[in-house]
Amino acid sequence: MEKKIEDIKTDFENKLKDISDSTDLENLRVKFLGKKGIVTEIFSQMKNLGPLERKKIGPFINVLKNFILKEILQKKEKLRGFDLEKIVNSLKPFDVSRPAKFGGGSYHPITLIQEEVEEIFRSMGFIIEEFPEVVDEYQCFESINIPEHHPARDMQDTYYLSNSKVLKTHTSAAQNDIMRKYGAPLKAIFPGRCFRNESTDSSHETTFFQMEGMMIDDNVSISNLIYFMKIMLSEVFKKAVKIRLRPGFFPFVEPGFELDIECLICGGNGCSSCKNSGWIELCPCGMIHPNVLEMGGIDNKKYTGFAFGLGLTRLAMMKYSIKDIRDFNSGNLEILSQFFNV
Ligand code: PHE
Repeated sequence: MEKKIEDIKTDFENKLKDISDSTDLENLRVKFLGKKGIVTEIFSQMKNLGPLERKKIGPFINVLKNFILKEILQKKEKLRGFDLEKIVNSLKPFDVSRPAKFGGGSYHPITLIQEEVEEIFRSMGFIIEEFPEVVDEYQCFESINIPEHHPARDMQDTYYLSNSKVLKTHTSAAQNDIMRKYGAPLKAIFPGRCFRNESTDSSHETTFFQMEGMMIDDNVSISNLIYFMKIMLSEVFKKAVKIRLRPGFFPFVEPGFELDIECLICGGNGCSSCKNSGWIELCPCGMIHPNVLEMGGIDNKKYTGFAFGLGLTRLAMMKYSIKDIRDFNSGNLEILSQFFNV
């Protein structure tokens, strides 16, 4: 019996040597360890042995079985290209100061959408401005017609810093500076990160991105805004996108609107992303309030203008079918790796 076990082992080793694909390996496993396999067979022959013999031979067969199992698993890893021994042997001393090189990185989806939309507006004659994230209360509120104690300040839960500085709650905080810097006529967009101290859910975050846009000239109306928005949306989504305008209130525009787009996740049928309405609030907008033009040093008798606060984060959610806004900052590679080759 012992000789037989030894022969099985040698037979197995010889056969294993010649195996070079996983199907053959599986067949070999079945041949030795399967229900009718050689090892199983030899186990069943134990019942013909006397009790003493059985006690002596039993452990030998167990050792054989474990040996075969281990060899098969190792070979399996080797066939998958994972040869630990080879890897360890190939490790060479290396220079830790050399720059690391990883498989592939990518831009964040917000960066991708921002650059895409910037390019579209640039091609339509808009300039692009950057603006800090920490601003004065004056920039964020007073200069755009939201005086102290105005109830509209409660619309946006502000993070207050010291010295009457705030984290900007909206990109509109840059309107006044940009009007003063360039005067009229003006066509500008200014993207940025915004902060609001509000509770989070799948469509609200304390940090999100907007892109403000303004066009000021001597004959600007809301139809100009609709025109630019439709072009931008059709470029981003590569098809015409349904929009609708609803009245909306913001102290810095008159009249004010909410521009919604058809929910592109459910095609307007209603889903959790659009709270079953079929529509997504994408872009609050309106005609710049005469007070805001005046505070920006622009002649409000001569000029009119539109302003919008495009929700870049929402736009990215629609474009890339991201259902939960919290995924953007989660570091979840499953979500982010989709953009590796965008
Ligand atoms: N700043 C507004 C907000 O974030 C949006 C807005 C911008 C509305 C421009 C009208 C015009 O809520």
